[in-house]
Amino acid sequence: MNSKKIAKLNLDNKELSLPIIEGVENEKAIDITQLRKNTGYITFDPGYANTGSCTSDITFIDGEKGILRYRGYPIEDLAGNVKFTDVAYLLLNGEFPDVNEKMFFSKSLRKEANIHEDMKRFFDGFPLNAHPMATLSSMVTALSAFNPVIADDEASINNTIIKILAKVKTIAAYSYRKYNGLPFIYPNPDLNYVENFLHMMFSDSQDDFLTDSILVDALDLLLILHADHEQNCSTSTVRMAGSSLSNVYGAVSSGISALWGPLHGGANQAVLEMLQTIKEDNSDYKKYIKLAKDKNSSFRLMGFGHRVYKNYDPRAKIISKAAEKVLNKLNINDPLLNIAQELEQVALKDEYFVSRKLYPNVDFYSGIIYRAMGIPTNMFTVMFALGRLPGWLSHWKEMINSSDFRINRPRQIYTGQNQRKL
Ligand code: CMC
Repeated sequence: MNSKKIAKLNLDNKELSLPIIEGVENEKAIDITQLRKNTGYITFDPGYANTGSCTSDITFIDGEKGILRYRGYPIEDLAGNVKFTDVAYLLLNGEFPDVNEKMFFSKSLRKEANIHEDMKRFFDGFPLNAHPMATLSSMVTALSAFNPVIADDEASINNTIIKILAKVKTIAAYSYRKYNGLPFIYPNPDLNYVENFLHMMFSDSQDDFLTDSILVDALDLLLILHADHEQNCSTSTVRMAGSSLSNVYGAVSSGISALWGPLHGGANQAVLEMLQTIKEDNSDYKKYIKLAKDKNSSFRLMGFGHRVYKNYDPRAKIISKAAEKVLNKLNINDPLLNIAQELEQVALKDEYFVSRKLYPNVDFYSGIIYRAMGIPTNMFTVMFALGRLPGWLSHWKEMINSSDFRINRPRQIYTGQNQRKL
């Protein structure tokens, strides 16, 4: 990791040598850990666009080339070829499970899928129209009261991680049922992770939901594509909250809250609402392209642009193809898909979007698939959270085991009042 190179900084007529570190894919960073101690200066980087907050073995992204790899495996090779639970295991442990590990992991996920009966009463405390993300984040914190973390050895950590993976999908499905005034459906230990989620969402108490392989495969694919994305806003939030050694349930709940915003995971809901508005406005998508470019308007083309990708988001490429395929298989002709495709075609040729390297991101087409599956718009970000869970948990685990673990605590440049008299 440490390179032989050093950076020289000339500051107040003194020369300072700063070590350079290099990642395995030649990502370069100037190590400023001793900067303040030696000079009194800090660095200034609002939005952290130039700041590396940690080293990580989990996910590699090259935003310029449109590359995304989990533990070295390209996303294009993983999507559709392995199961989401295998990807979760890979992210958490560094390698795919062998036969025994896979059996144990899958059995544990099935065993831990129920939440404590008393927790079901909590759902009654929420108004019927509560946003499912509000319910999800509150209920994940509440999980900690029913499943206290007793020890911090590896086995206990892994056990807690399994509990969170297994129970959060049950809570997600229950929040949908509550929102729709439907009775809760218990997880079925005969079903795998994705089948079980769909069963808890869509079966009714008389008639079991026939697990449809088109829906199961589509959801498995979407969850894989969302499983990790290195130091994005919600994952950094999980690391930040977890760095105080708060319990992992609270850290994950913080991540869920961070994900909710429309600039991050909430964009999938915002995209669908935008497409719906355009449709109701005579499908006049050109008007909205114009609006997105207008500096006097706060309107943005939702599902476009990314802090890291300055090329086509590789996840969006896979999802746009999958959207067409799933809709075809389900025999659905969704006008929103046509509007999305037209918007994309125009934006990809428009100087404003081209010069700023704004391409469709993961959220642009995902909602079209969720909608075809019968998942309501306000559940879209919950679906993102389900997918991102293994990533959050892998980063939390990596952080607490890291040899340079410290509480996260950035500094600031104070610009307020100088000392004054009362
Ligand atoms: N529509 C119109 N203009 C845009 C858009 C957009 N979607 N995104 C960025 N721009 C413009 C922005 O106005 C700025 O222009 P100028 O240089 O003239 O001031 C330039 O592009 C750079 O934008 P930025 O806001 O400095 O970029 P950022 O890296 O801070 O923000 C972003 C990244 C994703 C928040 C932003 O592109 C955005 O708001 N996109 C729409 C929301 C969205 O789709 N979010 C989901 C992101 S992917 C899922 C996830 O992992 O979170």
